[in-house]
Amino acid sequence: MSVTIDLNGKTALVTGASSGLGRHFAGVLARAGARVALAARRTDALADTRAAIEASIGVAGGSAVTVAMDVTDPDSVRDGVAEAAAALGRIDILVNNAGVTITRPFLDMEEEEWERVVDTNLTGCARVARAVARRMRDDGTGGAIVNIASILGLRVAGQVSSYIASKGGLVQLTRAMALELARHNIRVNALCPGYLETELNSDFFATDAGKTLIKRIPQRRLGRLDELDVPLLLLCSDAGSYMTGSMLTVDGGHMVSSL
Ligand SMILES: NC(=O)c1ccc[n+]([C@@H]2O[C@H](COP(=O)([O-])OP(=O)(O)OC[C@H]3O[C@@H](n4cnc5c(N)ncnc54)[C@H](OP(=O)(O)O)[C@@H]3O)[C@@H](O)[C@H]2O)c1
Repeated sequence: MSVTIDLNGKTALVTGASSGLGRHFAGVLARAGARVALAARRTDALADTRAAIEASIGVAGGSAVTVAMDVTDPDSVRDGVAEAAAALGRIDILVNNAGVTITRPFLDMEEEEWERVVDTNLTGCARVARAVARRMRDDGTGGAIVNIASILGLRVAGQVSSYIASKGGLVQLTRAMALELARHNIRVNALCPGYLETELNSDFFATDAGKTLIKRIPQRRLGRLDELDVPLLLLCSDAGSYMTGSMLTVDGGHMVSSL
């Protein structure tokens, strides 16, 4: 498959870029030509991400800078977004990816655990998006915001109620932001991945419980990170210029699995 989306001259801020999806997304945007600011709490891991991206982008790619940011801390978000904007000149694209989960029965959930998940996945995303969107509005350049939600923002599973509530909230926040920010030429969409194979979960998916879960996915397999590349680029680029307020599921049909 050959799809070319050119982000040369564009800039992007990716939160949660120190590992997993965020690290992958930052590389995808850089290889498409964007200059990228990588944000997270672990600055050593961000430096690794930056080195890996710079080694992979070649002459056609953009470049990367790192920014320390804790999305649960309003001061850290204010300073981190300002640092990213100063380094990049302006921010055209935000990938709101930082997220955490806790597996715990609803009745056993501690107050602090609930707050950590919701403050990171929902309030943190709103906090970063507000800081970035104010700059997009003031710069008059518009932009694209992609919130990384989940099919668990659209359906439910057991023992992850705080995650489900936070991602369901993020889905609705995406719609509310799309409505209010369209007048500033800012598009806001959500990418809703299903179950993806990563280093962190490969052991679980090798177990009987993991294999049973995979059987419930209509395509009968986990997704690969690279299967998010074009959906991400669609939402980030002018290829998606008439898309705002959309939830784009990439899940092997898990959302339409049979009852
Ligand atoms: N993996 C999947 O199958 C899957 C499926 C659907 C949706 N998602 C979503 O994709 C996103 C990334 O998940 P992942 O699987 O890549 O997880 P991951 O490898 O654990 O990465 C999470 C990232 O979020 C950052 N983060 C966490 N708390 C933060 C905070 N307070 N401030 C700033 N950054 C913070 C972490 O960086 P630091 O620790 O360095 O701060 C890390 O870079 C999440 O929103 C997740 O819900 C994942």
